[in-house]
Amino acid sequence: MKNLQTYLSNLLIWNVKLHNYHWNVVGKQFMSVHTFTEEVYDNVFEQYDTVAELLKMRGETPLVTVKDYLAHATIDEVSAKDFGVEEVLKAVHSEMNLMKDLAYAIRNEADEKNDATMVAAFEDFIAYYEKQLWFIQSILKG
Ligand SMILES: [Fe+2]
Repeated sequence: MKNLQTYLSNLLIWNVKLHNYHWNVVGKQFMSVHTFTEEVYDNVFEQYDTVAELLKMRGETPLVTVKDYLAHATIDEVSAKDFGVEEVLKAVHSEMNLMKDLAYAIRNEADEKNDATMVAAFEDFIAYYEKQLWFIQSILKG
């Protein structure tokens, strides 16, 4: 369940980081990126509870301290500054790819154990990421 604890840790750290982008993005498309980052952190926060409960149902204790999250996360924190619109979109794109790859690994491990509900949950997360990645790529092409 190591990948799951890493995934959970990433969700918490990424949630904080997305708020940083949400508050500090600047530029002509401020409003759309401000709204977009809010939609992503809402989804990430929902996933956070879902993943912790999946761990509990399998007899595992989810990590609960920020200290542990920082030790296990593979998404880095970033300090506050003015973020350009494109900079935020590129950063969220790369973080989303990282989370999608990790979600695929967890989904495939769960499939080997015939853990259908875990597979279903992570397939939903992957589908969400794929759609958001398409949105971001389309915006960045403009
Ligand atoms: Fe807000």
